Amino acid sequence: MTNNSANKTIVNLQVRPIQNQQELEEMYYQRWLVLRAPLGMVQGTEQDKYDSSAFHVVAVCDQRTIVGSARLRELSPEIGSIAYVCVLPEFRHQGIGTKLIQKLIEKAQAKQLKSIRLKSRMTALDFYQRLGFSTNGEPFDFLNIPHIFMSLNLLPSSEKSGD
Ligand SMILES: CC(C)(COP(=O)(O)OP(=O)(O)OC[C@H]1O[C@@H](n2cnc3c(N)ncnc32)[C@H](O)[C@@H]1OP(=O)(O)O)[C@@H](O)C(=O)NCCC(=O)NCCS
Repeated sequence: MTNNSANKTIVNLQVRPIQNQQELEEMYYQRWLVLRAPLGMVQGTEQDKYDSSAFHVVAVCDQRTIVGSARLRELSPEIGSIAYVCVLPEFRHQGIGTKLIQKLIEKAQAKQLKSIRLKSRMTALDFYQRLGFSTNGEPFDFLNIPHIFMSLNLLPSSEKSGD
């Protein structure tokens, strides 16, 4: 893939579920680097009590470097929640974030969930809208950053294909 000069070349990109505990730890570090370190927050603040039971996807470059990650968990048997969506700055604008969300949408559909919710930074609003999410309510501050709730209704795969 061709990149602009600020970007690093993607080598053998894979977007897939995490495979083991070591990879989970590496994913937490990558999550902290993108989402918490810039806010001056210490390591550990990037995790919560839902991580142990959630579904995690990672974008892996050259079979070892985690360059992106995201999480899906179930709020109820019908509603999923996406969180901690993050791509290392030097790997952005190459479709990795889109692939991470698409993977989580596929997982949510396989689990027969009817909708997905998330809390988007206002700076990522266009990104999620392009993926089909709509805003709900008014912006609010979280971690001193403007956010807005968004949601996506899911159709069962059979309805999508017109069966
Ligand atoms: C939001 C975020 C996950 C997006 O990751 P990404 O890998 O850059 O996402 P994509 O490349 O799929 O899409 C980003 C943009 O690049 C564009 N793009 C995708 N592939 C491209 C390519 N090959 N060439 C040029 N542009 C491309 C997309 O059109 C998209 O535009 P948009 O932002 O106007 O929608 C990333 O910017 C990030 O980690 N931000 C900081 C944390 C954050 O805000 N997380 C989410 C909110 S809580």
